[in-house]
Amino acid sequence: MLLDLGDLRVRNWHRDDLDALLRFANNSKIADNLRDQFPHPYTRRDGIEYLNYVRSMDPAMAFAIEYGGEAVGGIGFKLGVDIARLSVEMGYWLAEPLWGRGLTTRAVTAASDWAIDSYKVVRVFATVFSHNVASMRVLEKAGFVREGVLRRSAVKKGVILDQVLYAKVR
Ligand SMILES: CC(C)(COP(=O)(O)OP(=O)(O)OC[C@H]1O[C@@H](n2cnc3c(N)ncnc32)[C@H](O)[C@@H]1OP(=O)(O)O)[C@@H](O)C(=O)NCCC(=O)NCCS
Repeated sequence: MLLDLGDLRVRNWHRDDLDALLRFANNSKIADNLRDQFPHPYTRRDGIEYLNYVRSMDPAMAFAIEYGGEAVGGIGFKLGVDIARLSVEMGYWLAEPLWGRGLTTRAVTAASDWAIDSYKVVRVFATVFSHNVASMRVLEKAGFVREGVLRRSAVKKGVILDQVLYAKVR
């Protein structure tokens, strides 16, 4: 995938993204808002394993957000199975120094539309911890509709959390 949004791109991960990935992903403010599979601390081994894994996927399901010529974040997708096979789940993060500039909104808007077309699904959805106001705002600006609250549906660092479900359908 390559989405060229001018100063911003969403594209496949490259092996030489490792240094940028380690610099930006090793941040508890990011990991705290994602699933536990996104580790903290984020070690060199984690980065190497992640890049090997995503670069072996066919079709590719995880992409780098590139800004200023380097990978500064990620957007990933997971296809549903069985009766959910026309849905795809989306997750994303951005390097903290770039928060608040609208970059994720632009990337999520384009990548979610791309995912519906490319994976031939009718629904793209995301679940957000209910305290993550910035992420909910991103999804609203990207055309997602808030569908409801999944009460006490996640546990993060030993705390049970509500998640808010957002989706864009076609
Ligand atoms: C969530 C995240 C992706 C947002 O990225 P970003 O590039 O800063 O997002 P944008 O700049 O496109 O939009 C953020 C919006 O949230 C708003 N916002 C940010 N913090 C906020 C807060 N505490 N309260 C209310 N609004 C807030 C911003 O003002 C902006 O909205 P606006 O354009 O209407 O002013 C980024 O903070 C991140 O990577 N967080 C950690 C990982 C994560 O939460 N991933 C998503 C998991 S569901």
